[in-house]
Amino acid sequence: MSSISHILLSRDQISARVHAMGAALAGDLQRESAARDAEIVIIPILTGALVFTADLIRQMPLKLRLRVVAVSSYPGTSIQSKGAILASEIPTDLAGKHVVLIDDILDSGQTLGLVREMIERQHPASTRVCVLLRKPDSVRKRPVTAEYVGFDIPDEFVIGYGLDYDGYYRNLPEVAVLRTS
Ligand code: IMP
Ligand code: MG
Repeated sequence: MSSISHILLSRDQISARVHAMGAALAGDLQRESAARDAEIVIIPILTGALVFTADLIRQMPLKLRLRVVAVSSYPGTSIQSKGAILASEIPTDLAGKHVVLIDDILDSGQTLGLVREMIERQHPASTRVCVLLRKPDSVRKRPVTAEYVGFDIPDEFVIGYGLDYDGYYRNLPEVAVLRTS
């Protein structure tokens, strides 16, 4: 039996939005570096941001570096956040740089809240948060601002395009709602 309830976002919808987000982000970063010349560092939060980031950065014709951080928040078959645990080192050389944090989804805010705080402590030249998906404000345990949001979605557990359930479905090209019954 399929674990998919229904497709929420098609490949074409995702692709069009990612193109537009890449162009917007690249334009803003170009203006930012013109005002304050500094290295651009893109930081995807693994593993969920992997697919989104791969598509997004190929829409950004800029000189940039890629660094990764790993955060774990849904061990095993849980579909509710258990809080964010850092599962890798955080880059410590971000002072004075233009940093873009990328994640698949802003849900309870614990993941991005934790990483954003650790990055801002280093006094980068600028910090931006970019997410493909955002769940409603009512879900947030920690207030986090995302400057770039692909889609606002209902509070349902979604899989695909990098998002997993128990480690599976990340390779699904669409974003789908998980069948829970
Ligand atoms: P937060 O810390 O609760 O904001 O959750 C962020 C992380 O939890 C994301 O990086 C995702 O990996 C994961 N997550 C949150 N909601 C979902 C979902 O609906 N499906 C799959 N993963 C999710
Ligand atoms: Mg994740």
